[in-house]
Amino acid sequence: MDYKVRDLSLAKEGESLIKWAEQNMPVLMDIRKDFEKDKPLEGIKIACCLHVTKETAVLIKTLLAGGANISLAGSNPLSTNDAIAAYLASIGVRVYAWKGNHDDYYWCIEKALEIEPNITMDDGGDLVTTLHTKKQNLIRNIIGGTEETTTGVKRHRVMEREGILKFPIIAVNDAFTKYLFDNRYGTGQSTIDGILRSTSLLIAGKNFVVVGYGWCGKGLAMRARGMGAKVIVCEVDEIKALEAVMDGFNVMPIEEAAKIGDIFVTVTGNKHVIDANSLEKMRDGAILANSGHFDNEINVKWLEENCINKKEVRRNVMQYELKNGKKVYLLAEGRLVNLACAEGHPPEVMDMSFSNQALVAKWLVDNKGKLENKVYKVPEEIDREVARRKLKTMGIKIDRLTEEQKKYLESWKEGT
Ligand SMILES: NC(=O)c1ccc[n+]([C@@H]2O[C@H](COP(=O)([O-])OP(=O)(O)OC[C@H]3O[C@@H](n4cnc5c(N)ncnc54)[C@H](O)[C@@H]3O)[C@@H](O)[C@H]2O)c1
Repeated sequence: MDYKVRDLSLAKEGESLIKWAEQNMPVLMDIRKDFEKDKPLEGIKIACCLHVTKETAVLIKTLLAGGANISLAGSNPLSTNDAIAAYLASIGVRVYAWKGNHDDYYWCIEKALEIEPNITMDDGGDLVTTLHTKKQNLIRNIIGGTEETTTGVKRHRVMEREGILKFPIIAVNDAFTKYLFDNRYGTGQSTIDGILRSTSLLIAGKNFVVVGYGWCGKGLAMRARGMGAKVIVCEVDEIKALEAVMDGFNVMPIEEAAKIGDIFVTVTGNKHVIDANSLEKMRDGAILANSGHFDNEINVKWLEENCINKKEVRRNVMQYELKNGKKVYLLAEGRLVNLACAEGHPPEVMDMSFSNQALVAKWLVDNKGKLENKVYKVPEEIDREVARRKLKTMGIKIDRLTEEQKKYLESWKEGT
């Protein structure tokens, strides 16, 4: 079997991490039981480009249980857990991923595509864009793809708009049971986790700047406040900015926040949101991190070119001494801090995100040939099914509409 991982002898360690995740992903484990019985993915080849975490392994094992044949490349140079990659390789998955893979990132994606997929499962869009640019000959086999994150969905929507998208993509990110929990509570908690594991500094009392008040930013601001930080939000969208104000945060432009912030985290999916003019204004000792998909949110190139000195002072913490004599500290090269410095999102939220992935893969097979080359929402019945199953595993019951209420909601005649 073909694979490339850091060290296959880490497989046992990977296995116990995966068992831990499995205990905390009950919905996906239920779906695995259904898949074992019904084999909805029999004979289907799935090429995945995902963060290689313990939770991803639970998804991969579920897809295997459904009969699929899988290949997997990492979706970020620093997000692979080598023990997980080793375990997956040991059970016969074609894995091409290792932590610190800067140079062979696209080679791994191309290797994963050698499976000649029927379905793509992407996180960020690099697999799908590689198919559309370098591997167009493989597109003919494809039923459709799924996309895990906001940045990937944005890229695929642009491809659709420009008329170049060659197969349907289901925006798993946009399911309610994904972004409301994964982006908000997952990123909120795991970003703080990454900052703490890499710096071991106190959050309480710090000026904590969150750049971007979307779903990830909301979760992060909420959790930073919970730990006693004085949270400042920077936004470009007037409605999101207003929300942040009324949620009780200080809102100001990044160049103002730059002068007073102690910790800065970007979560925008946009480029150079912390740029030279802000970096120059920062206090001595400022900490910089990014939790958005790509490493271009902080202008790291400017730091590289304009520092007079650079050294790694702790694992994942790079000190840049600037010409003005101040030192700033960049975590994880400006790459996803929650995955590079911690373990990514907790299994309980990935339970919902990846249940959507598994059910959508089945749905794509069931709807083969019926879809256009567009970006689709996750069907509402899948989204609600995931929510229902999650509540059930949590032992939570909710009310049901009575017949009288259903009729009332569908009528217009009854007023005061
Ligand atoms: N770290 C993770 O594990 C993880 C998880 C989910 C999503 N993501 C990624 O995080 C990023 C954000 O995702 P989201 O779901 O919160 O997106 P979102 O669209 O809900 O929010 C992004 C926000 O950033 C704002 N923004 C854009 N440019 C800005 C600028 N120059 N200055 C200030 N604000 C700006 C937008 O107005 C928007 O409100 C994406 O790249 C996404 O792929 C990462």
